[in-house]
Amino acid sequence: MDRILIRGGVPLEGVVEIGGAKNAALPLMAASLLTDEPLVLENVPDVADVGTMRRLLQMLGVEARHPPLAAHTLVLQCPEVLDTTAPYDLVRRMRASVLVLGPLLVRAGEARVSLPGGCAIGPRPIDLHLEGLSRMGAEITLEGGYVHARAPRGLKGAVIRFPKPSVGATENLMMAAALARGTTVIEEAAQEPEIVDLAQCLRAMGARIEGAGTSRIEIEGVERLSGARHRILPDRIETGTYAMAAAITGGRLELRGTRLDLLGAAAEVLDEAGVVLEEIEGGIRAARSPRGLVGTDVMTLPFPGFATDLQAQFMALMCIAEGAAMITETIFENRFMHVPELARMGARITVHGATALVRGVPKLVGAPVMATDLRASVSLVLAGLAAEGETEVNRIYHLDRGYERLEQKLAAVGARIERLP
Ligand code: UD1
Repeated sequence: MDRILIRGGVPLEGVVEIGGAKNAALPLMAASLLTDEPLVLENVPDVADVGTMRRLLQMLGVEARHPPLAAHTLVLQCPEVLDTTAPYDLVRRMRASVLVLGPLLVRAGEARVSLPGGCAIGPRPIDLHLEGLSRMGAEITLEGGYVHARAPRGLKGAVIRFPKPSVGATENLMMAAALARGTTVIEEAAQEPEIVDLAQCLRAMGARIEGAGTSRIEIEGVERLSGARHRILPDRIETGTYAMAAAITGGRLELRGTRLDLLGAAAEVLDEAGVVLEEIEGGIRAARSPRGLVGTDVMTLPFPGFATDLQAQFMALMCIAEGAAMITETIFENRFMHVPELARMGARITVHGATALVRGVPKLVGAPVMATDLRASVSLVLAGLAAEGETEVNRIYHLDRGYERLEQKLAAVGARIERLP
């Protein structure tokens, strides 16, 4: 299994290209099931999760190819659905596989999707996806670990009020509603920028959607959708991660191809914590403030609140800040698995329930550590970049799920980092 070796202490300087958002790419790829015409996606990140989604879609009948010399453009076309099952082996590897459920159901009248089961960051059920689809008329049964959804006569519009916002369930229902009969209203919808991006693409395909980006989305079903060309928005989590990489090493990075407004509340939190973010042409400049890093309390919340996907990285940053930071995780249970690893590097962190109290220390010290999930892994990389001595991050396959060429991008701005087989 690959490992990453980091010799810390080098302030990062230079330019980093930010890719398209993985969390937008996955639902957008699933949207290719909604039409028999080609869907052309630009700015698709080359990460393992995209590869997993591509494999799943190919099993279902989607033809996928990159045009010549366009590694980040993906052409997807599903002339006919050949299979309606998302198998355990793929869903287990990537929960977002469940995003094919809505599209398959409206296109083919049926879908079988393995239940994702528990994952490292908590139980993560899919009940909201299923309740929404059943309100739209789907018959749902559970058989042998699989959700079997049927709608032989199609789905019909409904009013669906989530008890709390779910990104995946909002996306699944938006896609299903686009081809349902009548009007669907989603209340307490997720408001993440990736939802807005999906709605934009669906609209380009002929869907009638209003309110994406607010808590109430209205979708008027249409008979059929066509192909479209869509450029995926920048990855705000990759953006935030590299901004913190600049600050944790006391360096300065230009993040190209991204936007500050995508960060939501994280922009203010980072500013308060001593990460200076400045809009420049074509991107953002990120650096550590001359006043240094300052302990700053934060609570993860649905967008525009501080993203749970930036929580682990922010904790790494707070490990060497002046003063204390209280970090509260409200989205996922069990998302503090980076804490014991950061502690092995000298961090002072106490966890009480969903809250971690981080007391800043003057420095971290390199150590062998183990990655447990995508964002936890990258937080250990950030800690390693700032630490004195050598850090070895093990089990890094998680990193490849969501970060394209992480070690090359970091090495290009001065980090002493290498991947070892
Ligand atoms: C998406 C992101 C993930 C991010 C998360 C929260 C993708 C591919 N993944 O995940 O990176 O961390 O949003 O911003 O976009 N829940 C239920 N029942 C459901 C669905 C969700 O109880 O049917 C709960 C979850 O356990 C969690 C909360 O709702 O506590 C939010 O989850 P959700 O927004 O659905 O996250 P994902 O779409 O899985």
